[in-house]
Amino acid sequence: MTVRSGVDGVHGTAQGRGRDGFELPDEADTIAFGRRLGSVLRAGDLVLLSGPLGAGKTVMVRGIAEGLGVAGQVNSPTFVIARVHRPRPDGRGVPLVHVDAYRLRGLDELDDLDLDTDLMDAAVVVEWGEGVAERLSEEDHLVVRLNRRPDDVRELSLEPHGADWADRVASLLS
Ligand SMILES: Nc1ncnc2c1ncn2[C@@H]1O[C@H](COP(=O)(O)OP(=O)(O)OP(=O)(O)O)[C@@H](O)[C@H]1O
Ligand SMILES: [Mg+2]
Repeated sequence: MTVRSGVDGVHGTAQGRGRDGFELPDEADTIAFGRRLGSVLRAGDLVLLSGPLGAGKTVMVRGIAEGLGVAGQVNSPTFVIARVHRPRPDGRGVPLVHVDAYRLRGLDELDDLDLDTDLMDAAVVVEWGEGVAERLSEEDHLVVRLNRRPDDVRELSLEPHGADWADRVASLLS
């Protein structure tokens, strides 16, 4: 596996490196990567999923939920904005807050949702979060970019913000 570290992030690949990053040929690969990411998430973490419609953001959250071991089916939260998934007894004990910021006009709306979970006690994963949700943890968050190539392969790149995420991304890719 190759890891390239640069000012704008870290790129590597499990399946072979594309020109711009990490290749995820099938849905199962995206879920598997999400599962790995979910297995290192901690309470207070913020992950922003970036990428166009159909890029595979929700599919990745399914893997993250598996890695965390939380209950409930992960669906596209487009119609509900945010959903809290509680830890399963056999899970890692960290709830998942899955947010779709596509329709969120600002973070104040997230506060207004009355999620019944302090965001600092959960791993917060935000689809369409870039440009909106960084404010939750400006110095310390992970941006996951997914791109859909014409051949349907997804390209992934990881952009760590903060020293802790740089280390964790390097270990995720090793
Ligand atoms: N390598 C892949 N990784 C992820 N999804 C894939 C892949 N190949 C094909 N797909 C398909 O692409 C679709 C991705 O849908 P998904 O809902 O995850 O996208 P999204 O980025 O969440 O879109 P939206 O912005 O509408 O929320 C699914 O139907 C999935 O089966
Ligand atoms: Mg989605």
